[in-house]
Amino acid sequence: MSWKNKLRQVEPYQAGEQPKIKNLIKLNTNENPYDPGRKVKEVIQQFQSSKLNLYPQPDAEELRCALADYHGLKKEKVFLGNGSDEVLALTFLTCFNGQEPILFPDISYSFYPVYCHLYHIPYKELPLNEKFELNKEDYYQKNSGIIFPNPNAPTGVLVSCDFIEDILKHNHDSIVVIDEAYIDFGGQSAVSLIDKYPQLLIIQTFSKFRSLAGIRLGVALGSEEVIKKLYDVKNSFNSYPIDTLAQAIGKASVEDSQYIKDNASKIIETREYTQEALKKLGFVMPDSYANFIFAKHPIYDAQDLFIKLRERGVLVRYFQKPRIDQYLRITIGTREQMEKLIEVIEELIEEGKLCKTL
Ligand SMILES: Cc1ncc(COP(=O)(O)O)c(C=O)c1O
Repeated sequence: MSWKNKLRQVEPYQAGEQPKIKNLIKLNTNENPYDPGRKVKEVIQQFQSSKLNLYPQPDAEELRCALADYHGLKKEKVFLGNGSDEVLALTFLTCFNGQEPILFPDISYSFYPVYCHLYHIPYKELPLNEKFELNKEDYYQKNSGIIFPNPNAPTGVLVSCDFIEDILKHNHDSIVVIDEAYIDFGGQSAVSLIDKYPQLLIIQTFSKFRSLAGIRLGVALGSEEVIKKLYDVKNSFNSYPIDTLAQAIGKASVEDSQYIKDNASKIIETREYTQEALKKLGFVMPDSYANFIFAKHPIYDAQDLFIKLRERGVLVRYFQKPRIDQYLRITIGTREQMEKLIEVIEELIEEGKLCKTL
């Protein structure tokens, strides 16, 4: 057999574009438009590069304790990784090892099926209803694990903690993972359920709420038993996933949480403004509880609108996928950025430049 046939073939996740276009209004990867804060800046300015000859703390001990305090949990219930994508990758490897398929919604974070293919995990995608809502009874069937984002991505639709508790009550023998990447933009975290349900694992990120997508920090919160197993797998893979500077920055961010919550409130306000402004232009969308909106226009073609917005310096996200190929996912930026988006859409409509849906 040739060496070529011995190479692993996988279809990777397609991340949103990170183009280097001047003055681009970048609303395509759900980054936070605000600065990570004064405390983070101080840490970076005062950081001694001479510390970098040594390996970092392997389990990011100080940051782990700061986060445990923030969530009111014991540190043994906190796991840290290099971005929540890494935490998710380790979670799939650690938690989803049964014969039955794991379950997640058909419209969801598109990394989940990629991990399943990578690790040969069988999976079943359960259709959301036409309002993009999950149906809890779908999750009563046999499975080797459950995962979904709350609020869901890319729709922004939220489920309540009661909804999650109901799924937990019907799944005592499966790990139930709630991906809370966007929970701090108006949802209620399921962290309070961890003590009651040891099979619950919550995943969060520093990339969105904390404006730190550039340093790569992700978190898992769960029972000591599950967290210990995650550390065992992580330590079979990479002992030092979080560098020294990232650990210090993460800790400063946790200590500056009030500033970060104030930014989230501004984003929520701007989201309400943008939803209203888009509705006035005829767009329809589910209510969003995230830092993005998932909108479609009943007349204008979404892919065409995506292309024409890009030509005019506004980048949003378009997914060429069944059921959602007439929607655009629009990250909430600053109020000025969102006003510009609305202005550009108005211009395109007035100029008669947009193609109609076929
Ligand atoms: C639902 C969801 N989970 C996880 C992530 C990964 O975030 P990160 O790897 O930046 O922590 C994203 C990123 O967009 C996401 O949308």
